[in-house]
Amino acid sequence: MLPKHIIIQSGPAHLQQGFLTSQKYTQVAVLMDEHTQSDCYPLLATALPIHQTIIVPAGEEFKNLDTCTKVWQKLTDLAFDRHSLLIILGGGVLGDLGGFCASTYKRGIDFILIPTTLLSQVDASVGGKLGIDFQHYKNHIGVFQEPVYTLIVSDFLKTLPERELRSGFAEVIKHCLISDKEMWQKVSAKAMEKQSWDELIRHSVSFKYSVIAKDPKERGLRKILNFGHTIGHAVESYLLASVDRIFHGEAIAVGMVTESFIAYEKGLIAQSELDQITAYVLKVFGKVSLPAHDQLMPVIGQDKKNKGGSILMALPKGIGSAIWDIETSEGEIKGSLDYYRSRQI
Ligand SMILES: NC(=O)c1ccc[n+]([C@@H]2O[C@H](COP(=O)([O-])OP(=O)(O)OC[C@H]3O[C@@H](n4cnc5c(N)ncnc54)[C@H](O)[C@@H]3O)[C@@H](O)[C@H]2O)c1
Ligand SMILES: [Zn+2]
Repeated sequence: MLPKHIIIQSGPAHLQQGFLTSQKYTQVAVLMDEHTQSDCYPLLATALPIHQTIIVPAGEEFKNLDTCTKVWQKLTDLAFDRHSLLIILGGGVLGDLGGFCASTYKRGIDFILIPTTLLSQVDASVGGKLGIDFQHYKNHIGVFQEPVYTLIVSDFLKTLPERELRSGFAEVIKHCLISDKEMWQKVSAKAMEKQSWDELIRHSVSFKYSVIAKDPKERGLRKILNFGHTIGHAVESYLLASVDRIFHGEAIAVGMVTESFIAYEKGLIAQSELDQITAYVLKVFGKVSLPAHDQLMPVIGQDKKNKGGSILMALPKGIGSAIWDIETSEGEIKGSLDYYRSRQI
């Protein structure tokens, strides 16, 4: 079940005018980057109330304090008061940054999230985590705050570059693997281009929301969302500084294959399940050339989810469910990386 503030529309994007008039906002601004301004704004512009626009540069490298300063400056120049509204039209970078700016401007003004990438629709739009990168630390400064509402429209995906779409698809696959065997079978029977995005977005958002509603502070259950992210994050972080930089979802794809192998080694999934996961994930994402063990292991050792020197993972327990805080040895991780390296596409 979805909460009232998350609206998934399959048709053209429109805001609920009833909601807007009932709130009587003094001013409205739409925050976009240069891509969402050209590709997404035209789909929505006529359905918006009278508004100002704020444009910031696109990309993770701009998810920082300088960009926040520009947004706060613009809101100040426009004399936005505490009863104004910020509408954020963009991917996860803009959602995290814009939501953070809105939540802190004059101690917090309302904001609406309109996520425009698959990743932000199925993942970043749920859970209220907002923030920016600081120095070399990702998502280092931030707050928890829910938007007044979130509007998810799959039409925006039509202009999204394929590699970005694929990156978001990794989170969709992850959600199926840890929550719904039937959906996994449906998804893995089709190529990415043939997927029914409306159905998958609804499935992912409902699932993520149900997990967060049960465990908002990540004390237990919410940790299952980290499946694929222990090894995946390490690969992503390691390659961040290199010319072979890969997208988040591409790294999570590596994480899902390697961590599934660990689950298989621990007797949590069957050989046939491991084979299915590996075959489909490699078909969609191809293979990443992995760094050597001694380069990757220290990065895995730094993972935020570890406790007292042991590496803890969320692993599938049969396709369609998952368990968390599973202690994993260095040997098991190295074995899983060797397994990944030895696979043929
Ligand atoms: N808050 C959370 O819970 C959460 C969860 C997951 C990820 N994130 C964050 O999300 C960010 C990544 O988000 P992302 O993958 O959406 O990347 P992104 O926001 O950088 O968007 C990717 C690119 O696509 C462009 N774009 C966006 N929508 C488009 C569209 N419809 N058509 C054409 N181009 C479009 C953007 O301008 C950008 O160049 C990271 O900073 C990550 O930390 C947050
Ligand atoms: Zn992720």
